[in-house]
Amino acid sequence: MAGEVLMRVDDLSLHAGGRELQHGLGFDVRAGEVLAIVGASGCGKSTLLRHMIGLQAPQAGRVLWTAGGAERDVHGDDPPHREIGVAFQAGALWSSMTVGENLMLPLELYTDLDAGQRERQARYKLALAGLSDPATFDAEPASLSGGMRKRAAIARALVLDPPMLCLDEPSAGLDPLTSARLDDLILRLKRDLGTGVVLVTHELDSLFAVADRMLFLDVEAHTATALGPPKELREHGPEPVREFLNRGRPARTTAAEEAAA
Ligand SMILES: Nc1ncnc2c1ncn2[C@@H]1O[C@H](COP(=O)(O)OP(=O)(O)OP(=O)(O)O)[C@@H](O)[C@H]1O
Ligand SMILES: [Mg+2]
Repeated sequence: MAGEVLMRVDDLSLHAGGRELQHGLGFDVRAGEVLAIVGASGCGKSTLLRHMIGLQAPQAGRVLWTAGGAERDVHGDDPPHREIGVAFQAGALWSSMTVGENLMLPLELYTDLDAGQRERQARYKLALAGLSDPATFDAEPASLSGGMRKRAAIARALVLDPPMLCLDEPSAGLDPLTSARLDDLILRLKRDLGTGVVLVTHELDSLFAVADRMLFLDVEAHTATALGPPKELREHGPEPVREFLNRGRPARTTAAEEAAA
């Protein structure tokens, strides 16, 4: 259901190497929205994602999976592993398997599909991610280019049709055309499937093109200092947020942009 709260993050603190990165983080992730997580390098974006998917336990606060009305602690006994698709920053695939096997393994573990159905599903998800060359299916991950590996990792994140998708810098290292296609894919997922997408990105073009809301993690304040639509925050957000969002762009929306909006 569009707008349904899929995940609630409550008063979360992030630590790494004995240091507090962020504290007091509170926000939700809704079905059919793209929530961008933005902030300077090292502020804790990837660490936040690891907490949200249950890979790292919080020092304080909670992450709850709330889709369907239930409250399941992401760090509890019944974590929502199947419900959250993840593509990590490094775009890691299992190197001992072919690309196709990488995609089919979650289907084997979590669904009743037979081998033929698993293969069709895997090929379909690769095509969605822009990897429709049949040879890619049988390739070793190591033989792919960095951008192809990244897209294969995104295809794997999509393979179980998860209601929520976490993408850590999916367009870093992609050429502009591939990057724009990825933006289109994200928009289609949210519009057609109602997927809730959590997107870590440094790319301002992509941010303004796809994000409904953004959470700004301030590297100095060690907490989130803004949450809202990127275009609104670019004009009316706190100073560090406006500075971040205006880098290399006119400080104010031009009349032409306003007319086009
Ligand atoms: N396991 C760890 N042990 C020690 N320090 C860590 C660990 N993981 C992360 N850090 C540190 O925590 C900080 C935040 O890391 P994180 O990867 O979350 O940042 P980020 O916002 O994703 O940065 P980037 O934009 O460069 O990807 C960094 O200073 C990093 O060195
Ligand atoms: Mg990171």
